[in-house]
Amino acid sequence: MTIGALLALSFLISVLGLFLFIWALGQGLMRAGPEAAQIIFESGEAGQVEEPAGSDAQRMALQELASLRSEEPVPATAVGFHFANPKGFAAREAQDSSSRGAAFAFLSSSIVWLVLGSVAGLIASQKLTSPDFLTDYAWLTFGRIRTAHLNMVVYGWASMAGLGISLWMLPRLLKTPLVGGRFAIAGAGLWNAGVAAGVTAILAGWTDGMQWLEIPWQIGILIAVGGALCAVPLFLTLVQRKVEHLYVSVWYLSAALLWFPILYVVAKVPYVHFGVEQAIVNWWFAHNVLGLWLTPIGLGAAYYFIAKVLGRPIYSYGLSLVGFWALAMFYSQAGIHHLLGSAVPAWVQSVSVVQSVMMIIPVLAVGINHHMTVISGRVSALRYSPTLRFVVLGSVLYTLVSLQGAHEALPFFNRLVHFTQYKVAHAHLGLYGFYSMIMFGSIYFVMPRVLDREWPYPKLITWHFWLVAVGFGIYFVFLTVGGVLQGVDLLDPNKPFMDSVTVLRPYLMARTFGGLLMVAGHLIFAYHFFAMALDRGPVRTGQAYIGGVPTTGR
Ligand code: HEM
Repeated sequence: MTIGALLALSFLISVLGLFLFIWALGQGLMRAGPEAAQIIFESGEAGQVEEPAGSDAQRMALQELASLRSEEPVPATAVGFHFANPKGFAAREAQDSSSRGAAFAFLSSSIVWLVLGSVAGLIASQKLTSPDFLTDYAWLTFGRIRTAHLNMVVYGWASMAGLGISLWMLPRLLKTPLVGGRFAIAGAGLWNAGVAAGVTAILAGWTDGMQWLEIPWQIGILIAVGGALCAVPLFLTLVQRKVEHLYVSVWYLSAALLWFPILYVVAKVPYVHFGVEQAIVNWWFAHNVLGLWLTPIGLGAAYYFIAKVLGRPIYSYGLSLVGFWALAMFYSQAGIHHLLGSAVPAWVQSVSVVQSVMMIIPVLAVGINHHMTVISGRVSALRYSPTLRFVVLGSVLYTLVSLQGAHEALPFFNRLVHFTQYKVAHAHLGLYGFYSMIMFGSIYFVMPRVLDREWPYPKLITWHFWLVAVGFGIYFVFLTVGGVLQGVDLLDPNKPFMDSVTVLRPYLMARTFGGLLMVAGHLIFAYHFFAMALDRGPVRTGQAYIGGVPTTGR
């Protein structure tokens, strides 16, 4: 049996599996009713908002809005929240404090990588319009600094932020203090060492030479072991959990933690993949880092934080499960669409195009669920909740990037935009617009719980939001338009190649400006984060921990 036949078989099984799953849901064979969506609330908590990133006034406004729209009457107290169930409150405090060390280790590291990685991106961007900029040292040349940028933002920022948020969410979702958090802290150490050594190797010119897999495999072992250590608390806590039903976010987070080590080890194993097959494995891995590693973490976080901030269960729990299983079934072979028109057998390419288009199913399921939870009467909550602003923007951009991706896989469109800056804009729409925005919002929610204090300078959150939203808007729009013009020129046999280069210049300059705003937003975010970590901001403990008056001043 050829690889292609296996691929086609897996596709057929996926379609069959999805129909079976939907049939089982329809027959009520799964526990997927509205009560399953309530599992993230303690008893008596549904209808009450939770927004640790907001001020007391914002929380009160959020609670008033929630009470106004609530099906059940919920008393809005002067502080916007009152935890009426002392047992539930104590349990919640214990869950939050159990993941403190692990979450802080990952989140603080991720922010350092975010700053370093995005500065490297800015340098790479400037080089594309000023080729003589910083050329005196080999480690600052485009090939190295671009690659360092990619590895720092993917493995340093995005992965470590996702792990920190996942480790913090698990005890809450499983209503059980985190078991084995020390394994995760050791994992953070190894992961950091792997990224630091990997980026140093890349800057020194030593790489494995495949995109997204540049870190030499000898160093990659540190990342693989670090990641495996993070899965230990997941499984230990799952085994000892106090809830029977697993909320949809647990499905996403557990799957991500299981899928990543498999992807990484299979793709990294040395001396096994050669030639065309190596290219297939390369893009199978690279696309799945986004789809089966970062996407499930981002979606799992959005499913939790949107519901929690609004104090209401998600729109349709059954649909959320369809979204999860359709992602699991269709994503894994979509990555070959990066190799359309190459030496890969044509029908392998076709299967990947079909699977890319099938991705519309989970995307719509997730989109309807996320957007309807907010749209039905709660849109004005965006004015009062810093967390929601980032997370909702991220989830809207998830819908856009996924629909855009499905189109890009179609051969007629792929011919136009392949090898152009359009692809870079698309990559940033996914990793920045969707994923990073959700991580920013999640970190704003989580950190006051991790450190038991409020964000010290709330205005900086607003600055952060607008700098990165506007900066990214400029980045994406200009690069998308520039990419299409570049593609048109590349396809025109009467035009010299240089036309496709010069046409891009103003768009690349605009991208650098957008990137500058994004980096400014990251610097503000990092300053705010570490100011809070260094004991700035009002302390919150006891009832004040949830939403009362600060117990201690600055
Ligand atoms: C968290 C923030 C960021 C993430 C997650 C991110 C992600 C990525 C990814 C995935 C790629 C590879 C794209 C591809 O091969 O198609 C890339 C390339 C690149 N990024 Fe970023 N990026 C971030 C921030 C920035 C910033 C602030 C800039 C500043 C302008 C920037 C500039 C670039 C450049 C110039 C490239 C290379 C493009 C090329 O090869 O033509 N990135 N980035």
